[in-house]
Amino acid sequence: MNKRSTLRAFAAAATTLGFGLVGPPTHAADTEPIKIGLILPMTGQQATTGRQVEAAVKLYLAQNGGLIAGRKVEVILKDDATVPDTTRRLAQELVVNDKVVALAGFGITPAAMATAPIATQSKTPMVVMAAATSAITEASPFVVRTSFTLPQASVSIAEWAAKNKIKKVVTLVSDYAPGIDAERFFADRITLNGGSVLEKLRTPLRSPDFAPVLQKVRDASPDALFVFLPSGQGAAFMKQFAERGLDKAGIRLIGTGDITDDDQLNDMGDVALGVVTSHHYSAAHKSPANQKFVEAFKKANNGMRPNFMAVGGYDGMRVIMDALKATKGVGGEALLAAMKGQIFESPRGPVYIDAQTRDIVQDIYIRKVERVGGELQNVEFDKQVAVKDPGKTK
Ligand code: DHB
Repeated sequence: MNKRSTLRAFAAAATTLGFGLVGPPTHAADTEPIKIGLILPMTGQQATTGRQVEAAVKLYLAQNGGLIAGRKVEVILKDDATVPDTTRRLAQELVVNDKVVALAGFGITPAAMATAPIATQSKTPMVVMAAATSAITEASPFVVRTSFTLPQASVSIAEWAAKNKIKKVVTLVSDYAPGIDAERFFADRITLNGGSVLEKLRTPLRSPDFAPVLQKVRDASPDALFVFLPSGQGAAFMKQFAERGLDKAGIRLIGTGDITDDDQLNDMGDVALGVVTSHHYSAAHKSPANQKFVEAFKKANNGMRPNFMAVGGYDGMRVIMDALKATKGVGGEALLAAMKGQIFESPRGPVYIDAQTRDIVQDIYIRKVERVGGELQNVEFDKQVAVKDPGKTK
């Protein structure tokens, strides 16, 4: 046995026997960086989500980084290429090999669901910055969410539609968990308010073709079409909506704000004008905190406008950093406890992390796409205050 392994064997024995080691080894361990594992789709279909969240995390750290209990904070970024099995494997490696105190990111629901058991087994807080199916927070007691939930967004637009002469609707959603949430909560609420759903259409998550469903929408001739598609699919959808003349056929387009994503909105053209959506974040949100955020984000990223994914990443990093400050860098259950109940002003408006559900409570805004100062913007004109996820069963 060489000297090093003797020391390690001693350390192991000491720990098992309940002795604390004193002196240099402990000190060396304490000056190791505090590591956070950030897993995002940097390539593959949802790469725009990865790009936005990464930029926001970097911005938060540039503005608010620094030592915690004398230790540096290091974010280890991993690309899951939008493949949930890869997310899970990367999370396992980050926990076991890198000893991260928190996992973060998660661009799509299947990625978050695949990773939740690892958070539970290793007692590692897992901050969901992007994915938005209601059930994610119930998949592990270690999940904390800073994005939003589809039920939050869908109920608010259903309320608005019912009050604005929209009676007959068709729904169109991406055929996976967040789409099912959106379809169900929108349909239930509009029906409750006297509306009727003529048809429920779904498109595949991967490489959707909107032509066949848009033909069905035309044939059904509803007052409005309600749409949820994941971030990044909105521009292609809008193009086909216009090409098939649906905008001219008197069918109003409404949806969750995912389809008028600020990242892509400027490329959508006139077809997007007047589209009403509900969401938790618009880059046009009028507050000094948001103005500062948008300016700094654009400056650091060649003019790229932050979207709702960016704000989830920015606030997620804040929740992690503030919790780490409270625990002086300690992870596990203490870190989770320090995340619960956090209350702060986000660029999106006032928010808090519900201590019971670990989900974000936030204002949901009704917005209309308008051209302001040469740019297409989601202009907020109404809001519901402090909306809890309506999808929670408990
Ligand atoms: C999810 C992904 C998105 O891009 C989005 O806009 C909403 C939800 C998801 O997979 O949970």
